[in-house]
This record gives sequence, structure tokens and C-alpha cells, in this order.
Amino acid sequence: MFKLDGIEKMNEEQKLVYMLILLEGQLSSERDALANLSNAAAIIKAVMNRLNWAGFYIMRNGELVLGPFQGLPACNRIKLSSGVCGAAAASRKTQLVPNVHEFPGHIACDGASNSEIVIPIIKDEIVYGVLDLDSPEFNRFTELEAKYLEKYVEKLNKYIDWKEI
Ligand code: SME
Repeated sequence: MFKLDGIEKMNEEQKLVYMLILLEGQLSSERDALANLSNAAAIIKAVMNRLNWAGFYIMRNGELVLGPFQGLPACNRIKLSSGVCGAAAASRKTQLVPNVHEFPGHIACDGASNSEIVIPIIKDEIVYGVLDLDSPEFNRFTELEAKYLEKYVEKLNKYIDWKEI
């Protein structure tokens, strides 16, 4: 059974470290890439608060296709020329967007989203997808979270064979 022990007493960084520990537990006990990505999305949604969506888009034939996620049903396909996800994949850089309504080409999958962070998933110089988090709060995401979410993706990269997805 999944339990979040003592999380309410943790500060921001302790929670992010804990999230990495939970991910390591998942990845080291299961080899299936789809199961691992599904629980990776669920761990983020369980640990980080004030989120309305957390999940993955996977690169398929030059566009991003919806992968495992937690939240409302979302856009199935995103071109690299559009949205925050497309920008992260095309630029290969984390996009920390305090107000999505000011981001040119932002795609409103869930009307509740007001801020967003997207981390590109890059292994051996190939972009395999993105990790996308949305919040109903403006200016929700911090540089510290960006740093730890990049570590989260590094850990996924260590265990996941993206070609299996
Ligand atoms: N807002 C994203 C689209 C994906 S959803 O937020 C789940 C974007 O602009 O790329």
C-alpha cells in the first residue's frame, strides 16, 4: 500500500527529495516502462500540491503524443511548434511559465491551468518526450522544483528504455 509518511511536516526541498526516493523505489522494483511512467506521474501528483495535471508526452514521429498522466483528459497530440510542451521539446530546455496566458501558443487542455512547468526528456541527445506539470495557481513553480524535476527526469532516464514506450 502506498503511504506518504510525515509529508505534511516536510519543507519544500525535503518533499522534493522524498519524491526522488519514492521514484527510485518504483524504478528499482519494476522493469516495465509503462508501469514505471504511470507511477512516476502518480508520485508527482501525490507529493506536490496545488497541481491539476501531471504527466508525460512521448515523442512519436516528430510530434508529442499523450502518455501516462494524472488529471483531466488532455490533448492527444502536440506539434513541436506549439504550446509550452512543444517549446520544451524543440528548445531542449525546461520551460517555467508563471502565467500560461502570456505564453505565445499555449495550449489550454484544462481551462483551470494558470501556470506550468515542462521538462524535456533527453537521453543520448535524443528528445524522447516531456514531463508536464500544470497548476491552477499563477506563479506556482519554483526554480528549486525545476532543479528537482530535472533530477526526476535524469532518474527516469537511468532506468527507462524509452524505445519500449
Ligand atoms: N498546456 C500544454 C498542453 C498540455 S496540457 O497542459 C496537459 C502546452 O501548452 O503545451
